[in-house]
Amino acid sequence: MKSAEGKVLHRPLCLGNWKMNKSPQEARAFCQELKSLLEEAQESHSASARPSEAGRGAQGAKPLAQMVVLPPALSLWAVAESLQGTEIAYGGQNCHFEISGAFTGENSPKVLQELGAQYCLVGHSERRKLFHETNDLCAQKLKALIELGLTPILCVGESLEERQSGQTEALVLEQLREALKLAKGDGRFKTPGTQGSATPQGQAVPGGGFPLIVAYEPVWAIGTGQVATVEQVGEVHQLLRQELDQLLGPELSQNIPLVYGGSVKPENGAELLAAPAVDGFLIGGASLDAKSFFALAQLGA
Ligand code: PGA
Repeated sequence: MKSAEGKVLHRPLCLGNWKMNKSPQEARAFCQELKSLLEEAQESHSASARPSEAGRGAQGAKPLAQMVVLPPALSLWAVAESLQGTEIAYGGQNCHFEISGAFTGENSPKVLQELGAQYCLVGHSERRKLFHETNDLCAQKLKALIELGLTPILCVGESLEERQSGQTEALVLEQLREALKLAKGDGRFKTPGTQGSATPQGQAVPGGGFPLIVAYEPVWAIGTGQVATVEQVGEVHQLLRQELDQLLGPELSQNIPLVYGGSVKPENGAELLAAPAVDGFLIGGASLDAKSFFALAQLGA
């Protein structure tokens, strides 16, 4: 992601949404393999580094995309243990907006935080469609996560019928505006510079280092193998960027990465990453295999 002046602000993001896949045991095996792949890449880079760079170890390694694993809730503990001390982050796929209470079967965002999660998906299309999550509910969840200092990954995207009837723009903008409506007015979500003497982003920058991530996921591209074109992705991302600039101000907006999701694979990743305003990926199917997830992360190198 680049600032208006063309300065690189952060590494691309590679977010792996496992959905309802991988038991704790399988999750441990995946993390082990991913850590080995990362170590090998760092070692081979150090070995080929110029003498002046040798000995810098992992710090001298070529930067990969920031990897974030999003396991199902019951496997989060295993992931937290396995990834301890690594630079691979993790998060939840969903949470309630209350910290605790009589909400049978729900997961608290506070528990995510205690387990070291830095991120949580909000409003994935499967949650919206299969579990009837509304924009209002997304707004409450987003606010709760921001208050706890976790980075929400807000998913927006249109169905095939909505695209074919020309509703894509209006729909994704509505999803974005509605989800932000509670957090926007909240003290933590102000533009930098309005927050007194704290960090440049005041208290707004949570554990993940971003106030928010927005994932554009056209529903028709999720799990279908039908990937959106670079033009389609670029158009929507530019639209989302303009809206974030307007809603939150350009300074805060430039700290909010925009990632694309929907049938992303190592074979199509490079092309998508080169599309305008694309800061990384939200990956479903291809994130279940450590090698293909890592191959996508290496595209960010
Ligand atoms: P997919 O899923 O990569 O399998 O299409 C993406 C997602 O649902 O986040």
